Amino acid sequence: MTNNNPIGVFDSGIGGTSIWNAIHELLPNEKTIYLADSKNAPYGQKSKEEIVALSKKNVDFLIENNCKLIVVACNTATTNAIQELRANYDIPFIGIEPAIKPAAHNSKTQVIGILATKGTLNSELFNKTAEMFHDTKIIEQVGYGLVQLIEDGNLNSPEMTQLLESYLQPMIDANIDYLVLGCSHYPYLIPQIQKILPEHIQIIDSGEAVARQTKNILREKVGFSDAEKSEPVFYVNSNPFVLKSILNNKYDVIQKEF
Ligand code: SIN
Repeated sequence: MTNNNPIGVFDSGIGGTSIWNAIHELLPNEKTIYLADSKNAPYGQKSKEEIVALSKKNVDFLIENNCKLIVVACNTATTNAIQELRANYDIPFIGIEPAIKPAAHNSKTQVIGILATKGTLNSELFNKTAEMFHDTKIIEQVGYGLVQLIEDGNLNSPEMTQLLESYLQPMIDANIDYLVLGCSHYPYLIPQIQKILPEHIQIIDSGEAVARQTKNILREKVGFSDAEKSEPVFYVNSNPFVLKSILNNKYDVIQKEF
């Protein structure tokens, strides 16, 4: 089965590009449209109703652009809105959930840490998943302020280092051996996080797992593109500068209201 329509990817902002990178690397022939709702970022402190409404707005735009499948590249939107999206639209959705499963399975200390937004950690979906691993102690930490600093382009600021130290030190003291990054923005903080964590603590994010799942759904339900190569399209509804620079200025970014 062949299908040359694009894959849609959306996030509250620029962080979902960490997921987009993994998809683009695994499926370079697929056309992709990336939507950064930076005007409304961060989603992490918003109510479930607001997150659902914003997610539907993003999905409407991607469907108008003929997307064949949509990746919700935002943990907060996945945990709060994916059930509503699946119930309301006749198109496959792939979400990102924090990689608690591999961390809990591989942990030797049986203590793992998760850094995520308040919206993700409070969600029913996250709590149901966490309950499945009752033999593992999960140290939860809301990453207050991190998404905003990333959206503002302040990845390497002293404020970022200070926040990360204050969030990670209690996890180190609790003897975690895995740190799960439960927000698609956080992979951009890995270099800073590695400076704080002792070497034996492994960091896990969800990018590769989401890319593999996308490939499976294309194979089973939607169809692959037979194009030789395809340029991605990026949209943002606020200043395009930070999105462009996180993409190493390799792609054009279209600024548009949506
Ligand atoms: C946010 O918008 O607050 C973070 C997005 C995420 O949870 O991945």
